[in-house]
Amino acid sequence: MPKTTLHSLTRLKQEGTKATCVTSYDASFTQRINQAGIDIILVGDSLGMVLQGHDSTLPVSMEQMVYHTRCVQAGNNTALIMADMPFMSYRTVEQAMTNATDLMQAGAQIVKLEGGLWLKDTVNKLLEQGIPVCAHLGLTPQAVNKLGGYRVQGKTPEQAASLLNEAVELEAAGASMILLECVPTHLGKAITAAVSVPVIGIGAGPDTDAQVLVLYDLLGITPSKPARFVKDYLLQEGTVLSALEAYVTEVKNHQFPAPEHCFN
Ligand code: KIV
Repeated sequence: MPKTTLHSLTRLKQEGTKATCVTSYDASFTQRINQAGIDIILVGDSLGMVLQGHDSTLPVSMEQMVYHTRCVQAGNNTALIMADMPFMSYRTVEQAMTNATDLMQAGAQIVKLEGGLWLKDTVNKLLEQGIPVCAHLGLTPQAVNKLGGYRVQGKTPEQAASLLNEAVELEAAGASMILLECVPTHLGKAITAAVSVPVIGIGAGPDTDAQVLVLYDLLGITPSKPARFVKDYLLQEGTVLSALEAYVTEVKNHQFPAPEHCFN
């Protein structure tokens, strides 16, 4: 299988072929993820919750993100590696530049930042220096305290219009991908149609260009109550590899996410 690139993902969007993404934090799971043919690996700061046992992603450090990105890179042959910039690691353009450099040197091909229009300058400057950015919009877990919990975003027409505008403006500023978390299906569809870069969704309905799940959710081993958008594939498949393969098949065949995984 040839290695996934930003260009190959854009081609999939243009063809209308769904892409797949899952989180990974180490080399062994990464090898299984490659075997299953998953296009993108997200070294997510969700590791703060599923590996470290915290109740949010806020305690995760840059040092830890670099370490786990190196582990994933060591096991990876075919997926595009996207690494999260953790909480407070991109307060200024200069800080973002230094920290994104560390993630790229650890093996990432793109970095993900959470936030809206305030990120425009950072996105622009990182891209100028050869660092592609994915803008994470909707439910942004690093802002959980401001948002008042892990809640669906963009429910009112005003909030939906504002999120759509953020996606368009961030693409114009140079974002190479958008990740949309926990938004109503109609908004996932509208944003995906409004931008030409690939849109990855989690709890954003079936119409985004790609789907992402946290690996431990997909394997049913996350200790907390699963969110509505989660499906436990290990329960139905029995092995890690076949669970990952079933996820790929269902996303590619438009069977996942089903209506019960989506928000109206
Ligand atoms: O950190 C992570 O795993 C994420 C996903 C929830 C998209 O950002």
